[in-house]
Amino acid sequence: MSKRAAAALVAGAMVAVLTACGSGGTGSAGKGSGHKLVVGFSQVGAESGWRTANTKSIQESAKKAGVELKFSDAQQKQENQIKAIRSFIQQKVDVIAFSPVVESGWDTVLKEAKDAHIPVILTDRSVDSKDESLYVSFLGSDFVEEGKKAGDWLVKEYASAAGPVNIVQLEGTTGSAPANDRKSGFADVVKADPKFKVVASQTGDFTRAKGKEVMQAFLKSQPKIDVLYAHNDDMALGAIQAIEEAGKKPGSDIKIVSVDGVKDAFTAMSQGKINYDVECNPLLGDQLMDLAKKVKAGEQVPRRIKTEEGTFTPDQATAALPNRQY
Ligand code: AHR
Repeated sequence: MSKRAAAALVAGAMVAVLTACGSGGTGSAGKGSGHKLVVGFSQVGAESGWRTANTKSIQESAKKAGVELKFSDAQQKQENQIKAIRSFIQQKVDVIAFSPVVESGWDTVLKEAKDAHIPVILTDRSVDSKDESLYVSFLGSDFVEEGKKAGDWLVKEYASAAGPVNIVQLEGTTGSAPANDRKSGFADVVKADPKFKVVASQTGDFTRAKGKEVMQAFLKSQPKIDVLYAHNDDMALGAIQAIEEAGKKPGSDIKIVSVDGVKDAFTAMSQGKINYDVECNPLLGDQLMDLAKKVKAGEQVPRRIKTEEGTFTPDQATAALPNRQY
């Protein structure tokens, strides 16, 4: 091969490499072969056992999948999540994933990500944005369905009771998708029978401490409580402490239906303190890494991926306890 032909070949190869970089958009994964996929992930916080398990799953799956994870904890504040997303945009990550602390108020920052050609994946919780082009996929549970499952259990449990059945509700973080949806799903089911009365409902912010505090207030203000419906296990566990300190028996004096299915709740169920638990699976890491890789490769991904989950009676929870991962 002549020197001129060899030089032309090298120049051609360089153009091909540069073109390949350009087709990768602004993300860093397009910067050459062997470059790790970079995912910026903004987590809600560390408010519950569920959340801790979710964080662990995402971090471990990233490691396993060879993904560089830029992890940011928003401490339950939307402004921190918006800052984190802006920082991911500045760092030109390949994919942004986040679990939105509340449903509304995301359009501006999601538009900024879109303008920077960085795809966004929603995990666990969704946003109420009308513009569906602002994110590529939403991976997580059906919270309305979870609320309905809790309601279905209640209806069966009290099928032969005359009523009234007085219910207190510990709501999740105000404005969050699981709090909104678990409340409406439950209400949809129990409204069919007027004997079910939600006599008090207040946020416990998905934490054990707040769950206890709000339950203490319910116990003082409500002369008769038959059932506690807690939007997550941590609040239920905090409420159990309040009920016991008030000299009552959780699980019998006050029946408890909760959501999540974490180990601590299963232990409480094995002791007869929680009557029914609706599962919400936090182990989303593997699916998220898989999605991120596909999105970066330009593959079509489903807009909605629902997590599969079940329900647990005390007997089922006791049997599942030894092998429960979270
Ligand atoms: O978004 C999922 C919910 O958030 C879980 O039910 C709860 O425990 C967490 O804090």
